[in-house]
Amino acid sequence: MNAQQHKRKPMVIANWKLNGGIDLICTSVASFIGKHFETQIAICPPYIYMRDMLTFLQHSEISIGSQNVSKFESGAYTGETSAQMLKQAGCKLCLIGHSERRAMFRENNQSCQIKVQTALNHGLLPVLCIGENLEERDANITKDVIFRQLSEGLENINLDGKDLCIAYEPVWAIGTGLAATPEMAQEVHQFIRRELAVLLGEATAERIRLLYGGSVTKTNAKELLAQTDIDGLLVGGASLDPGHFLAICQQVSEQAIAKGNQPGSAPQSAASVN
Ligand code: 13P
Repeated sequence: MNAQQHKRKPMVIANWKLNGGIDLICTSVASFIGKHFETQIAICPPYIYMRDMLTFLQHSEISIGSQNVSKFESGAYTGETSAQMLKQAGCKLCLIGHSERRAMFRENNQSCQIKVQTALNHGLLPVLCIGENLEERDANITKDVIFRQLSEGLENINLDGKDLCIAYEPVWAIGTGLAATPEMAQEVHQFIRRELAVLLGEATAERIRLLYGGSVTKTNAKELLAQTDIDGLLVGGASLDPGHFLAICQQVSEQAIAKGNQPGSAPQSAASVN
């Protein structure tokens, strides 16, 4: 573990996908309100619940994120929500290029690139999701896929000192109960950080948090996070059970203290979640 790793404040993000309702909001809020964590935590509910959650959670440490963002600023784009609207509503981050959006809604590296820049321009923390599918892993081209997703998704990105997160979510691990082993995940995370150093410079690459997602549970969270280049977790199914998600957050928080992140350490930039 190096000194830089200590400076990357861990982050846990819940992606509710097209799930949840008033009951889940109430139980989640009740679980998290008044609790302190040494990790940044965000919940990405469906858009329709964002305002309620923002209101309920305004005195908590939990941030709200979106599962997507429009690449357009405004205009005749039925069904879209812009980065500016999300920011004004109080949203702190947005997922971009989730594999489900790539597979079902024609997201590609080019649209992701526009969305990343748009999010940055409006002060949202972009969480660019990347990952190979099973065919690609079996064909031994995982790193080629990751390289392309990163180099095209971040082409000519102007960070201007702002933060960015990358979430590595192997498609074959999403919703299957078959998480990557910590070693497998670390290998790809290390590769991602090296490529980020080439694309964005060494200092920026050391600052960027890399999250792992894909069948994360309270059983495997600690082991995954113990890896040098895994700075946080993106949780799907397990986040729909507030008690389970809370247990994951508590583990990450405890581990953050053990890893040397000082209690109360400041977020890394104005666009950081907190
Ligand atoms: P699961 O945790 O259900 O595998 O989903 C992961 C995911 O897609 C989070 O974005």
